[in-house]
Amino acid sequence: MSGVADEVVHLPVPTLPSSLPPTALGGASPLADQHGRVATDLRVSLTDRCNLRCSYCMPAEGLDWMATEQTLTDDEVVRLVVLGIERLGIREVRFTGGEPLVRRGLVDIVRQVRERSAEVEMSLTTNALGLARTADALAEAGLDRVNVSLDSIRAETYATITRRDRMHDAIAGIEAAVAAGITPIKINAVLLRGLNDTEAPELVRWSLERGYELRFIEQMPLDAQHAWTREHMITADEILASLEAVYDVRPDGEARGSAPAERFLVDTGDGVAGRVGVIGSVTRPFCGDCDRVRLTADGQVRNCLFARTESDLRASLRGGASDDEIVDRWRTAMWGKAPGHGIDDPSFLQPTRPMSAIGG
Ligand code: 5AD
Ligand code: SF4
Repeated sequence: MSGVADEVVHLPVPTLPSSLPPTALGGASPLADQHGRVATDLRVSLTDRCNLRCSYCMPAEGLDWMATEQTLTDDEVVRLVVLGIERLGIREVRFTGGEPLVRRGLVDIVRQVRERSAEVEMSLTTNALGLARTADALAEAGLDRVNVSLDSIRAETYATITRRDRMHDAIAGIEAAVAAGITPIKINAVLLRGLNDTEAPELVRWSLERGYELRFIEQMPLDAQHAWTREHMITADEILASLEAVYDVRPDGEARGSAPAERFLVDTGDGVAGRVGVIGSVTRPFCGDCDRVRLTADGQVRNCLFARTESDLRASLRGGASDDEIVDRWRTAMWGKAPGHGIDDPSFLQPTRPMSAIGG
């Protein structure tokens, strides 16, 4: 039997994109965007400086550093990170650079954030130079783990890519992190045509033998010198083909969720086996599942690596804004996040800010 009331059809109410998020009325509420995503993973760049000069990131010389007075102080960083955790649902904080270990206040920043939150997962994306000296202090301050950039385990190739002969220091840093218990170690490697693109299998073997989680990352158009070309990029397909040529490689069958890496089970056939990730940022984009938001060393919120606009939280901080005002500004910045990076659009423009000043 169907009465009149049963025949009422509920049509979906059309929603117009709004430039403003629903108001939070001063309470805690997540960093949502208009496309249904919620950011819970905060990447904080602590400096744009670095002690390496990776060719896919920086020119050999002649890149101006951010002025000290533009850079957030340790207290300003801590205030924003804690607001993110306590008011905006941030559950994971990753400190990046440039190279975060060159920031003098790093250990203290980690300690202060840990004192305010026992739960937040805190990690570092680092080249590991100098980590041998600081790993114990970072562990004691409350850091959970590290992601280390290591593109080659051949000293010569490493020196060519990074323009510095420091591979052994990086490996010593990784070993110190293991000894200090800031694990699991994740290794990030970018393959570059003609430089290290034949070295994927040895990087895999070396990492698996030591229990490190290796992830290959497609090179993205984020270099300071704007030299990226699609032809030079080693694609996820090429990375997998070079591994399949020598090892048994299968998808690991687990859902990837918001993690950018597709994971594969790799078996070398002689007793070494484990998981390897491939991050196809360009050819296999994962923007629809993105849960990241970025804060630059000069206090700008970027809702995407490739964003063309930023929101100036430093101006709010230094202008005496209340916590509520800062939180609202941050939420508004997030609401306008674009659905994807658009690298394939004819109108794509590389962001003016390079990776070294955004953070990975
Ligand atoms: N494309 C891909 N990965 C990059 N990284 C730095 N620049 C690029 C780029 N243009 C990597 C670094 C580091 C992480 C932050 O991102 O190697 O591991
Ligand atoms: Fe430094 Fe990282 Fe850029 Fe390499 S990729 S130059 S380690 S900031």
